[in-house]
Amino acid sequence: MHQVRLIYASVMTEACDTEALFEILKESRANNAANKVTGILCYDPAYFLQCLEGPREAVNALYAAINNDPRHKNVTLLEYADMGDRIFGDWSMGFLPSGILEKDLLPKYADGGAFNPFALSAEQARAFLIEVVETKREDIKK
Ligand SMILES: Cc1cc2nc3c(=O)[nH]c(=O)nc-3n(C[C@H](O)[C@H](O)[C@H](O)COP(=O)(O)O)c2cc1C
Repeated sequence: MHQVRLIYASVMTEACDTEALFEILKESRANNAANKVTGILCYDPAYFLQCLEGPREAVNALYAAINNDPRHKNVTLLEYADMGDRIFGDWSMGFLPSGILEKDLLPKYADGGAFNPFALSAEQARAFLIEVVETKREDIKK
């Protein structure tokens, strides 16, 4: 079975308050664990950047559902590729809250301004996520 990595960016809608975010993480962790999907959800604080890794069928079906979710909009695919090794094998859906990114990763990826995942190329998005796991591992919530 083919294993893939998918990275997308989106914009949070008004339907996504703190409670909705908590709900997303709860359902993600349960569903993803059952489907052998791992990944991370970063938010900062208007945008989402999410990585999904796992069996191609499961990742594709999940992305279709996510695309139709009213809690965000402008869902934009940044990367879709064969996976190789998992980056986020330790998290069914890790969560990196707003604030963590500001410390030292942003200057590198935000061009001096606020973090904007839509400005990232596929390669930059992947490099960003690898750096997150290498430097912020202890901040990624399980
Ligand atoms: C930003 C964002 C990220 C999401 N990530 C996941 C995820 O990783 N896994 C998941 O199962 N649902 C995720 N969801 C929720 C899905 O859109 C959908 O509500 C969920 O898969 C439940 O589908 P079901 O009712 O068919 O079980 C996410 C939603 C949003 C807005």
